[in-house]
Amino acid sequence: MSDLENALRASIRTIKDYPKPGILFRDITTLLGEPRAFRRSVDELVHPYSGLRVSKIAGIEARGFILGGAMAHQLSAGFVPIRKKGKLPHHTVRVAYSLEYGVDEMEMHTDAVAEGESVILVDDLIATGGTAEGAVKLLRQMGANIVAACFVIDLPDLGGRKKLEDLGVQVRTLVSYE
Ligand code: PRP
Ligand code: ADE
Repeated sequence: MSDLENALRASIRTIKDYPKPGILFRDITTLLGEPRAFRRSVDELVHPYSGLRVSKIAGIEARGFILGGAMAHQLSAGFVPIRKKGKLPHHTVRVAYSLEYGVDEMEMHTDAVAEGESVILVDDLIATGGTAEGAVKLLRQMGANIVAACFVIDLPDLGGRKKLEDLGVQVRTLVSYE
């Protein structure tokens, strides 16, 4: 395991049986609370894209907002919130999705990205990939060019990374829990 992965793992907390029995919840609030771990995560997530023209970072509610805001600042890009249904005030596109422990719907403003804009998608974690797949559908529906999807944590046994790669999306993750 790399130094980076070891360092980040040490700052991620695991909670058993949250939010449902049988789930090992990987909690990044502890990582966000450690200045070095938070900075290092954001630096590593943006690193491959610093020389590219990325127009916007799309962050998935809620933890993707925290990482995505910091990434957008670092890349001098705009930020697009992808939110749980009913939270965005203007015209939206909506998609239903399922995740490791439930089902829900998410939305994005129809004017949040323009046809052909380069966008990086970000969230804290990819498990089944249902949430990220929903976000990819919304972004592509509005014509976005998805440069990559980034996550601090990958749960590879749940197949999310492969699901996104099969959709033609390049995936970047920092820490893996088998
Ligand atoms: C978590 C996580 C991802 C999603 C990943 O969010 O932040 O968005 O689950 O699961 P999947 O790959 O199986 O789809 P959650 O729905 O718990 O929402 P929150 O960030 O608002 O707590
Ligand atoms: N989202 C889906 N599965 C998760 C897990 N095991 N830990 C944290 N967030 C999640």
